[in-house]
Amino acid sequence: MKDFSAINASKANFDDIYVMPDPRAYFSILGALDYIIPDLADPVVRQILTAYSKIHDRRPRVLDVGCSYGINAAVHRFPVNVDLLRRRYASADMAAVSPDELMTLDKNFFESWPDIGAADFIGLDISGKAVNYAKQVGLLQDGIVANLEQDRITAAQAKVAGSADVILSTGCIGYVSEKTYTQLLNTMSRRPWVISFVLRMFSYNGFEKVMQAHGLVTERLASATFVQRRFRDQEEMENTVSTLARLGIDPSGFEADGMIHAELYLSRPPEDVRQASLDELVTVTSGRNRLTGARYVRVETADGPQVALAP
Ligand SMILES: C[S@@+](CC[C@H](N)C(=O)[O-])C[C@H]1O[C@@H](n2cnc3c(N)ncnc32)[C@H](O)[C@@H]1O
Repeated sequence: MKDFSAINASKANFDDIYVMPDPRAYFSILGALDYIIPDLADPVVRQILTAYSKIHDRRPRVLDVGCSYGINAAVHRFPVNVDLLRRRYASADMAAVSPDELMTLDKNFFESWPDIGAADFIGLDISGKAVNYAKQVGLLQDGIVANLEQDRITAAQAKVAGSADVILSTGCIGYVSEKTYTQLLNTMSRRPWVISFVLRMFSYNGFEKVMQAHGLVTERLASATFVQRRFRDQEEMENTVSTLARLGIDPSGFEADGMIHAELYLSRPPEDVRQASLDELVTVTSGRNRLTGARYVRVETADGPQVALAP
């Protein structure tokens, strides 16, 4: 079993912002470092969830591991992104409200958008405050507060986890190891799909072995990386680059340019993999978030598809 603690020591520590009653500090601190992985992951996650629905003829239930304040659920289920949320919380008027008031405002805010999700979401996080917020504002249908690195999953938690069809994580492998995934997979009567965005400095080999022991085949998308954020400081950058060098990974063009990169792994039952490989399921489109002018878009209306100009 891999011990990630030494590598984590080289990563910036954000523990304080994960345990606040609402996500304002999270967006302020991580937003200032251009934390962007939920936005970059979502188009890929959407394609994978759509494929899951087609193959299994069921709307999947996603267990978001390290769900924090439910940001993956927010950007997946509603037409919002990390930057829009960051700007919402950065306003001086928002800074003045109490956490309880903010929860009410955010519940109304998310309810005011159409739900465009291809799945329902539940979450697991060590932070009770973050999970509570995500449930209160309606981003998660249910939540598990646990540290499965140290503790055994309870029967009640196992019942919630066992209802999931898909396990997702962004920005959390490294905080959690195979120990957490072994416990989660043991709760599941159906073999799930497991979508993991993993920083290049963390080896996924141990996870792949655990997946294999649970009847899952793992593929890595070799053709793309996903930027997680900028480095916080020179020390974090230098430490990460030396960790990568020890692992024999060349940071040129990636971390050497100042950003932490994640890779995508997908684990599935072999019969599902045979229907379509990861490469066939997923198309990564670069530049989709870079265009700022008005675009002609197709809109599904009651009278069928129509073209509209989106500002
Ligand atoms: C960088 S945040 C990622 C949050 C979210 N997935 C995202 O991308 O916006 C890491 C999260 O992992 C959680 N975490 C840390 N240790 C954990 C553990 N042992 N079990 C579950 N969650 C943990 C933290 O509380 C935090 O919410």
